[in-house]
This record gives sequence, structure tokens and C-alpha cells, in this order.
Amino acid sequence: MLLFVVTQLITAQTHNIQVDFKKNGAEIQKTMYGIFFEDINYGADGGLYAELIKNRSFEFPQHFLGWNTFGKIEIKNDGPFENNPHYVRLSYSGHTDKHTGLENEGFFGIAVKKDNEYRFSVWSRKSAVENASIRIELIDEESNVITSQKLDVKSSEWKQYELMLKPNRNYPKLKLRIFLTSAGGIDLEHISLFPVDTWKGRKNGLRKDLAQALYDLKPGIFRFPGGCIVEGTDLNTRYQWKNSIGIPENRKLNENRWQYTFTHRFFPDYYQSYGLGFYEFFQLSEDIGAEPLPVLSCGLACQFQNKDEHAHASVGADLDPYIQDALDLIEFANGDVTTRYGKIRSEMGHPEPFNMKFIGIGNEQWGSLYPERLEPFMKAIKAKYPEIKIIGSSGPSPDGKDFEYGWEQMKRLKADLVDEHYYRDPNWFLSGAARYDKYDRKGPKVFAGEYACHPQNRKNNFESALCEAAFMTGFERNADVVHMCTYAPLFAHVQGWQWRPDLIWFDNMNSVRSVNYYVQQLYGHNAGTNMLNTSENKLPLTGQDGIYASSVYDKNKNEIILKIANTSGETRTINYILKGLKNAERAVVKTTLKSVDPDVENTLENPAAVVPVIEEMKIPGTSFQVSLEPKSFHVFNIKI
Ligand code: AHR
Repeated sequence: MLLFVVTQLITAQTHNIQVDFKKNGAEIQKTMYGIFFEDINYGADGGLYAELIKNRSFEFPQHFLGWNTFGKIEIKNDGPFENNPHYVRLSYSGHTDKHTGLENEGFFGIAVKKDNEYRFSVWSRKSAVENASIRIELIDEESNVITSQKLDVKSSEWKQYELMLKPNRNYPKLKLRIFLTSAGGIDLEHISLFPVDTWKGRKNGLRKDLAQALYDLKPGIFRFPGGCIVEGTDLNTRYQWKNSIGIPENRKLNENRWQYTFTHRFFPDYYQSYGLGFYEFFQLSEDIGAEPLPVLSCGLACQFQNKDEHAHASVGADLDPYIQDALDLIEFANGDVTTRYGKIRSEMGHPEPFNMKFIGIGNEQWGSLYPERLEPFMKAIKAKYPEIKIIGSSGPSPDGKDFEYGWEQMKRLKADLVDEHYYRDPNWFLSGAARYDKYDRKGPKVFAGEYACHPQNRKNNFESALCEAAFMTGFERNADVVHMCTYAPLFAHVQGWQWRPDLIWFDNMNSVRSVNYYVQQLYGHNAGTNMLNTSENKLPLTGQDGIYASSVYDKNKNEIILKIANTSGETRTINYILKGLKNAERAVVKTTLKSVDPDVENTLENPAAVVPVIEEMKIPGTSFQVSLEPKSFHVFNIKI
């Protein structure tokens, strides 16, 4: 009897996991682990897009939102840029002691770094016969001048002027102030301030630390520009990619639905300048080595927000411009420089095609309205560009009637991939690791386009990251059917968020990678090239005793990569048996993410609360034993 109990205990805690080393296991797509970008939580303006001035073209409906004005100043609307016609006129007050000018508050302030250069630029002309001049200052919260420069404007033609500002130390929260310093008046348009040190040193560039964080994930796919903002609250406010290309000065401002979606996180100054537009998205995809995956409106405004017909483009003449937008986008990305949109891409600085292979049509759509619209899109795209893979939606929920109907329709229409979304609690993730084991292998492939584990407190805590790590073994085990997955949302400003959890948090100075980020990174860096069957007693490990496991082979590195999560509260002993390997001692790199506190998170104050820990070890031959601490996730890279 005692022997029986002891045997039971040992079997409960020791798992014999067999990994079949077959070089020809099903192929893992290069697009497998990726990123999903949306301008939510000040992810673009005020975030990744490095512009420091808010409402730089005075196009917000309240033209001076973000600005404080003083003296004699007025808004005019016959400026040099057709899509953004507003500008300001500064005039002499009539007395030298009474000043005219304006101040910009930036996005939650303007942060600058010691000895870095900041490029101030403005379109300007004098507005009277006399020459005009202004003084540009960065001021702190007590109105002390940190650095300043003078600008003379002698021409009555619109021209762009540039100068550099260089602070002598770090300041987290400044304002930009402009004084009129001449008796002659001046017109100012598109007032901009950028760090010179952007990602790859580009003008109109991206914030370096944030772009670097994306690069460091090694993403295979890059979905943009959202989410709900693709659809718009109404059709007019959907994301229109054509408004996001060409010179930044002429990109038409759009509202951002995340401005007002949650009244408890209400941000009336949240708009989309489109300074980070489709050209920059394609360029960033190229920079980070990810396949670009643009998503366009299917002619349905957000279905959550709208029930009436005015929010839909009717199939036929109404929908045609939407379909044309999709065809033109492919031309913009891939077309020859002699084509209309290929030429625009080339003039923007990229004559080579971006080699786009995927397009998403619609975001979270459901019901018959969606397939009715998707069908003509698919016909038109496949007729002109049969090589482009089309991604359809299965709606906002990963189960239920609408989801089933969505999948059925995607199969009928022969969509190449189907986008699934799930923001669910830890239990859902832990019990769902076998979700894809029984998916139809002959139908469309899966794109888990938005997912994140939401603990009750909606923190990016260790518990949520561990559940995602465990669940993702199910992506890997089913890599023949799951071709892409992207965590969502990507970015959040600590002062300006609307939605959490999020992968990367930042303020104006610094950024922090969440524990969830490190899970994504471990998968991204260890994606492998071929699946390896991983089992215990011929069954996949989908939570037995809290253990989740999967494995891949990487033919480029000639490595076996094992991933395993112990979600239980106890140590688990694992006997790995590597079937099909020659018996020899091998070097192994073991990477661990673990924490005794499930609620711990990485913060700006403590960015390394939980980070991957790397150890080197040796294994004696084709089998080895490891002990997995409670609540831990591990990756073993075994050199062959
Ligand atoms: O990721 C945040 C939002 O969640 C996305 O915009 C939308 O697609 C989903 O509902």
C-alpha cells in the first residue's frame, strides 16, 4: 500500500516527455510570432512617433487645443497645405512690453535629454511689410528658459525654417514657447519639434527606444494600423491610408476613437496626425525584419458602436471605393515606380517595392454584413493580385454563435487566414492550450491577431505572462495551422492609457518591457523552423499537473528548442527523452522566467522585476532530467 502511494506521488510529480527529433516536422512560418500596432494609449502620436508638439498644424476642431496663446493672435485658414489649411498669425500688440506668442504643452509635457539636439521647424512668412522675428524657447514648469534661439523671417512667401535646440541636462516636462520679437507680424504653420536622434536618424522619425523594443522582439509579422481605429466610429473616421502618405504637412488629421471610448479614461486631445502613416509602417516592417500586414476597412464602421445602416457602405457602387483603396494599397506597396501609387512610394524615398504579401480586410466584424462585403473585396484582389493572402475576421469573440458563423463563412469564401481575438482570464488561457489541436487542417489558417491574458486587476503581471507562455505552446504545437499570432495592444503611455494590459509601457523619457514582452521575445527568438512532436504517453502536454510543453527544431542554427511551463505551485521533475538524436554530450542554454509573486510586474521604477535569466549547462546524452521551479517558464536551446 505504502509503495503504491509513493509511486503515485512520484508519477504525479515526474513527467517523462518524449521529443521526436525529425528534421521534417511541419514547417513553422516565418510570420509565426509578430506584433500588432494600433494608435491606442498614445501609441503613435505622443508615443512611437517622435513628434513632441501636439496639434502642430492647428487642425484639431478646437484649433488651440494643446496651445496657450497671449497677445494678438488669430487663426487663419488659407494656409499652404490643402488638407490642413489652418495656421496662426502673430501680430504686434501695439506696445513693446505687451507680448504676442504661444506655448505648446506637448504630450503630457515635452521631455528632452542632456546634450541631445532637437530640431525645431516651422513653415512661416512675414505678414506685413516689415521683417519679422520670433524667439523660440523651451521652458520648465517654473517658466525658466532652458534653451532658446532666434529666427528671422524676411520673406512673404511660405518657407520652411529649421533650427536646433540643445538642453544641457535632462528635463522630463517642458513647454515650447514662441514670442513674436518684431513689430512686423508673422504667420506660422506646422510647428514641429523632433529629437535628431530618432530610430535610424530619420527626420519625421520614430522614438528610438520604442522602435528598438520592437526590433528586439524579432517579429515575423507586423499588423497595422489597428484594431478598432481601422473601422472608425463612423465611416468618415475610419483609417484612410491615402490620407497618411505624402508630406506630413499635408496628411489630413483624423480623430482617434480612443479619445472618447472610455469616459473614465477620457482624452479630448487625442487625434491621429498620421505623421506615422502607411509609408512609415512599411518602412518599419522592413527595418525590424517583419512581413507587413496592413488591415483596411471593409466598409463597416465599428459594429460595437453602430447598429444602423448609415454606418455601412452598401455593396455595389458605395463599396467600390473601399475595394479600390485595397487595390491601390497593394500598388503603393509593391507597384512599379511607373504606377500611380508606386511612384508616390518612390518619391517618398523607397523606389524598391515593400514586397507586401498579406492584407487584412475588416477588423472585428460579425454577422452577414461582413461576408457580403468581404466577398467582392476578395474577388477583386484575387483577380488582380492572386499572390496576396487575404485575412478575414471571425469577430471579437473566440467562441459562440457569431464566431462559428464567421469561420463557416471564411471557409466558404476560402479566406487564406482567419483572424481570432481573445482577451480572456488566466483560467481560459490555461484550459485552452489544446484549442488548436483539433482545428481543421484543410481550411483557412489561423491568425491569432489580438490576444492577451487579462487578470482581474488588468495588470501586466507575472501570472498573465505565464498563462500566455503556457497557452502559446499550443500555437507552436499547431504551427501547421496557426501561421501568425500577435499580442495586443502593443504600447501604452503611463499617463495616457485607455486599455491595459499592454506589451510595452513608457513615459516621455523611458520605456519598460513587461514580463509579457519577455514571453513574446522568447518565442520570437526561438521560433524554430520545424515542429517536433512532444508528448507524454503519446499525449501532448496541455496542463497535466500544470505542465505545458512544445518543441521545435531550428535548421538554421541546428538546434532543438524546448519550451516548457510549470504553472503549478510545486516543483516538477521532467525527464526529457530526445528520440532520434545521436548519443553525445551537448551544450545547452537554459532561459528561465519565474517569480514567486504572481502579481509582480515590471515598471518604469523597477523595469527588471522579472527578466529572463540565462544559464549554461551540459546534458549527458539523449535524455536528461530537469527540475522546474513552481510558476516558471523555460526555454532550452540544445546545440546539435
Ligand atoms: O486592442 C484593443 C482593441 O481590442 C482593438 O482595437 C480591437 O480590435 C479590440 O476590440
